[in-house]
Amino acid sequence: MSLSVTTRDAITAEVAKYPYKKTALLPSLKLAQKEKGWLSTETLAEVADLIGLPHSHAIELATFYAMLFTEKVAPVRVEYCLQLPCALVGAEDALAKTAKLLDVQLHGERGTRHGHTKDHLIELHGTVECYGACHRAPMCRVGDDYKENLKTDDDLQRLVADLKTRAAAAKSQAH
Ligand code: FES
Repeated sequence: MSLSVTTRDAITAEVAKYPYKKTALLPSLKLAQKEKGWLSTETLAEVADLIGLPHSHAIELATFYAMLFTEKVAPVRVEYCLQLPCALVGAEDALAKTAKLLDVQLHGERGTRHGHTKDHLIELHGTVECYGACHRAPMCRVGDDYKENLKTDDDLQRLVADLKTRAAAAKSQAH
């Protein structure tokens, strides 16, 4: 058993909400990811066992759903939406400026652009996933939080300051 009692209890509560156990799988995996940062094979198996589903159901969903991670990710994961509505108001530029402020080298093509800080505490991604916040673009997700209206250099400075605070907190938690 590796999940905390709090997370296990929260998953049990999810299962009780739905007539079909399988419906509880996605929210339960999100709860497990929130605690662990990503979903290892062991964590997927633990969640499936808690719900009472075959492990294969958890693996299938985790590998299909883009917001669940089956490989380790940095403690601070930033995902810029580069879909057309965001791109039209400068999302590419905001991503590039954020990378520069963090001294991150970006690799890859539009939609898969990514990079990380030298200490691996912050990951930057450009995605073509619409997060439903097009009316407040440019925007990015930081974990579960949305950072919106990233239009000016001041907005980006504030974002980067917040990312550094989160990274420092993650570092101190790890020690
Ligand atoms: S297109 Fe970027 S949030 Fe919708």
